[in-house]
Order: sequence, then C-alpha cells, then structure tokens
Amino acid sequence: MSNRATFATRMGAIAATVGSAVGLGNIWRFPYEAGQNGGGAFMLIYLACVVLMGIPVMVAEFVIGRSTHRNVCGALRQLSPGGKAHWFGYIGITASLMILSFYSVVCGWIVEYLVMACGGRLHGLNPDEYGTMFATFVTHPWRPVLWTVLFLLLNHLVLRRGLKRGIERVSNLLMPLLFVILVIFCIHSLLLPGAGEAVTFLMAPRLDDVTPAVALKAMGQAFFSLSLGLSCLLTYASYFKNSDSLTRNATVIALLDTLVAVLAGLMIFPAVFSHGMEPQAGPKLIFEVLPLIFNQMHLGVMWAVLLFLLLFLASITSTISMSEISIAFLTEEHNLSREAATAVNTGIAVVFGTLCALSFGPLSDLTICGKTLFDLFDFVSSNVLLPLGGIFFAVFVGWYLDRRLVRAQLGRGPVVTIVVFCMRYVAPLAIAAVFIYGLL
Ligand code: TRP
Repeated sequence: MSNRATFATRMGAIAATVGSAVGLGNIWRFPYEAGQNGGGAFMLIYLACVVLMGIPVMVAEFVIGRSTHRNVCGALRQLSPGGKAHWFGYIGITASLMILSFYSVVCGWIVEYLVMACGGRLHGLNPDEYGTMFATFVTHPWRPVLWTVLFLLLNHLVLRRGLKRGIERVSNLLMPLLFVILVIFCIHSLLLPGAGEAVTFLMAPRLDDVTPAVALKAMGQAFFSLSLGLSCLLTYASYFKNSDSLTRNATVIALLDTLVAVLAGLMIFPAVFSHGMEPQAGPKLIFEVLPLIFNQMHLGVMWAVLLFLLLFLASITSTISMSEISIAFLTEEHNLSREAATAVNTGIAVVFGTLCALSFGPLSDLTICGKTLFDLFDFVSSNVLLPLGGIFFAVFVGWYLDRRLVRAQLGRGPVVTIVVFCMRYVAPLAIAAVFIYGLL
C-alpha cells in the first residue's frame, strides 16, 4: 500500500473529509433543491435525514474503511471472504464516476464565472440580463465542454502529481475563509428587504409540501452532501488513524457540512425574494442570484472573485475524493500504477462529462425517461444509488459484521449506542421507506 496517501494528523483527516463533504452540494445543489421542493419542508426532512441516516451510515463506512485500510472492494472481500458483498463496491465505483461526470460540468461553470468575475464582467447587469448570460453560456456548443474538460484535467494533475498534500494544505487554510465569507454574505443577505419572507420559506415547513417525492429529494441531498453511500468516506477512513473516534469525527463532519448548507440557503434566498425571482429556478439558481448579491456589495468585483475562487477550491477537494474511489480500486485490485489509474478515471469522466455538459445545449433533446443526461446522472446516482449504498453499509456493519470488530472500532458510550441503534434499525428502514414511496 505504499502508493496510498495517508493523513498525517487527526485534524488533517477531518479537514480532508470535510473537504470532500463541503462542495457544490452545499452551495449550489442545496439551495436549488430546497427551492424546488418546498423550502421548509425540504429543510426539515433534510435535517432528520442527516441525523437519523447520515451519521449512522457515515460511521458504518468509517468502520469498514478503518478496520481494513483498503479500497472498497478489497475491504468488503476481506470482511466477507467468498461473499458477494464486494459487488456493492462496483456499484459505488460506477456511481462515483457518474457523479464526477455531471459535477465537473458545474465545476466548469464555476471556472467560467470565476474568469468572468476577474474580468469584471459579472458586474452591473439586471436580473434578466444575468439570466440571459447564463442561458447563453450553458447552451453554447463548446464553451461549457471546454471548461468541464479543463477542470477534469486540473483534477487529474492534482491527483497524479500527488499534490494532495499541497492542495490539502491550501484548502485547510482556505476552507475556514470560505466559511467566514459565507457568514459575511449571509449577513448582507439577511439585511435585504426580502429576508423575512426568505427565512419563513426556508425555516417554516408547510405541511402540504411534505410529500414522498420531497422526502426522496431531501434524502438524496443529505447523502450527496455528506459524500455518503458510494464508499467515498470509506476510502478516506481507510487513511484514518486507529486512535480517532469515529463517532466524533462523523458528528463533527455532519455538523460542519450542514452548517455550510444552511448558510448557503440563508445567503441565496433573501436575494431571490428581494428581487422577486422564483426559488424554483433549478440548477441555474446560484449563477443568477450570486451576481445580484455582488452588485449590491461594496467592492463587489473583489467579493465575486473571492467567492468563485473558494467555490472552485471547495469543489476540487470534492472531485478529488470522488476520483480516489476508483483510483484506490484500480491501483490495489488491478495493480495499475497511480498514473494509469488516474488516467482511466479522467478518461471516463471526460467522455461522460462532455455529454453532460452538452445536455443543456446541443444534446438537450436527448432525453431518457424525460430527463436529460445531466439530470439522469444526477437523479440515478443521488436519489437511487446513494440511498441503496447507504442501506447496504448500514446493514452490513449493523447486522453482518462481527460485533467485536464493530465494538473495537467504535468503543462504548451513549452516543455509540444511539448511533448503532440507528444504524441497525432506523437508517435501513427509513431509507427503504423513503426510497420506495418516493419512487412510486
Ligand atoms: N459531498 C460533495 C458535495 O457536497 C460531493 C461529493 C464528494 C460526493 N464525494 C462524494 C457525493 C461522494 C456523493 C458521493 O459537493
């Protein structure tokens, strides 16, 4: 395992895992999903999912990863010799490639906006003009593809050169800055005239909105945001030290991740309401709303550059973690060199990422079950494969694994008892229920 990176310190391990969890899922996906799915109702179910399913499944992944110190398939083979459990590893690897493909498209949009912000071109327009600007860009025949591919190449370089340490250090330094900036933006937004309406929208659930479909979306979002269900955190936990408390790590990570998502919501929605825009705008939401916020801020150009730069860094730490799943698998199970494994990962993502990037423009008519390729990848991975992976991990650790092994990893205490209870009973049943009702 000499080719594996390791985390030097406990802080490093937590910071890297938070780096995986905090990304576009919090700042881009959370606000638009909340906006499309009833605001408060979505938020309420989301929080419940984080506590009742997210933390237990995260701990389950941690147990598998840290007790074996291996990639997902290797770990499952070791824990269930001769069994079929490692097939779930293949599902995780497939899902990670799907997510990497559509996620990189949005990372590409971020890079485009960063470049525009640097040129001062994001400044001084009205809401309609920002809408047109975004629409013109995403439907362009090659510009989104160019940025997607460039982003994937950058991701490739970081992974291949083993700059992981470097980027980790940079992001450890800059992620707290992202947090501070989000708080500043939130305060700014909460002083806007639409703030009251926005807070009600986001925080006060209307019971009519609590539907199975909303629950499925909220659950998918919780898994997505916490990087759960496809063994991303399992892979990271394989680099954890044996002395770390897994339940404490999981709680800290879930808390920070949720905080960032809520801050993003409080930053976006007041601006949405104060400009009389629709919260249901979908994936384009932040790209049309953020420039409006910059417009009203003193030194808006600087804030725009700073925020998009930090978003870029937050997203590359997430794509690194997604890529690490297949790279660890290919290097350890198939003896590929790290270079070759990284190339395979990037190659697949470039092909599917290109198709996803085109699905807003030239390929927008190519739909499967009424969804464009981008939407399909997002839906199948986040709302189907991640929850299924979640059930698997919870049941595998909660019921199948030797109790002594689990105890050795988790120790004892009231928190551990609650988490293990949720892992065995609440999480699998709740995920299954939401999943079945949500898809009906
Ligand atoms: N959680 C990240 C975000 O919020 C995305 C992510 C990274 C992810 N690794 C993952 C999502 C693994 C699902 C599974 O942006």
